[in-house]
Amino acid sequence: MIEETCETLVSVKDVTKVYDTGAVKAHALRGLTMDVGEGEFVAIVGPSGSGKTTFLNLVGALDVATDGKLNVLGKDLSAMSKRQRADMRLHSLGFVFQAYNLVPVLTAQENVEFVLELQGVGSERRKRASEILEQVGLGEFADRRPNELSGGQQQRVAVARAVASKPKLVLADEPTANLDGENAEILLKMMRGLNEQQGITFIFSTHDPRVVAHAHRVVTLVDGRVSKDEEKEPSTMAQNASPQEQA
Ligand SMILES: Nc1ncnc2c1ncn2[C@@H]1O[C@H](COP(=O)(O)OP(=O)(O)OP(=O)(O)O)[C@@H](O)[C@H]1O
Ligand SMILES: [Mg+2]
Repeated sequence: MIEETCETLVSVKDVTKVYDTGAVKAHALRGLTMDVGEGEFVAIVGPSGSGKTTFLNLVGALDVATDGKLNVLGKDLSAMSKRQRADMRLHSLGFVFQAYNLVPVLTAQENVEFVLELQGVGSERRKRASEILEQVGLGEFADRRPNELSGGQQQRVAVARAVASKPKLVLADEPTANLDGENAEILLKMMRGLNEQQGITFIFSTHDPRVVAHAHRVVTLVDGRVSKDEEKEPSTMAQNASPQEQA
């Protein structure tokens, strides 16, 4: 269930982002302010071009703000070097992208192990990767390569990879954009399970109302600002199947 928020993981204050491509300047964020607490499961919605991807890229230390304050996991991002930001992405954050982004020549198991290896995890890599694949219902698919998995299964591997090192925060930019309704539901329930069972905070963007239904907080962006920020009771709370049951 929703717990009292004990710690602010993300604090965004009056952030602006201007993309300067030479001839034109694109004002992607125009004074965006919002906080996300530990344990939240937040959907970011809003029309195309409203700044969702830009927001997630800034919080994920993939890009830098033009102005304003961004504090993520207790760190002031503007005071960090490129190297420190890369370190934070590797060791403290998990990412899920729209296009799965798995390494095509590696099996599901190896895709997860590979990231654990980059993170410096030693001999327990193999066991950890197997466990997390089991948890997302893909135990029996561990030895398959991405092209031998469905889109939904590939995205579940991507989520397994994102959470394998137990990050506090996972950022997902339209994780279900390439999935059909049924697979979108499976993926979201799985993310909710990881959120509830392991306390991992998720921030994900989406255009899909069925996906929004699983969130307990929905933040709407319009023109690079927060236009609505609603807490709600997720519609699937009652069903709330664990990821193991999702295979
Ligand atoms: N790299 C870039 N260079 C120039 N302009 C950009 C760049 N990335 C985004 N923009 C502009 O910034 C604004 C916000 O874009 P962003 O991608 O954050 O929106 P979005 O809400 O994710 O949209 P969508 O729902 O279509 O994914 C848009 O006007 C977009 O054209
Ligand atoms: Mg986007």
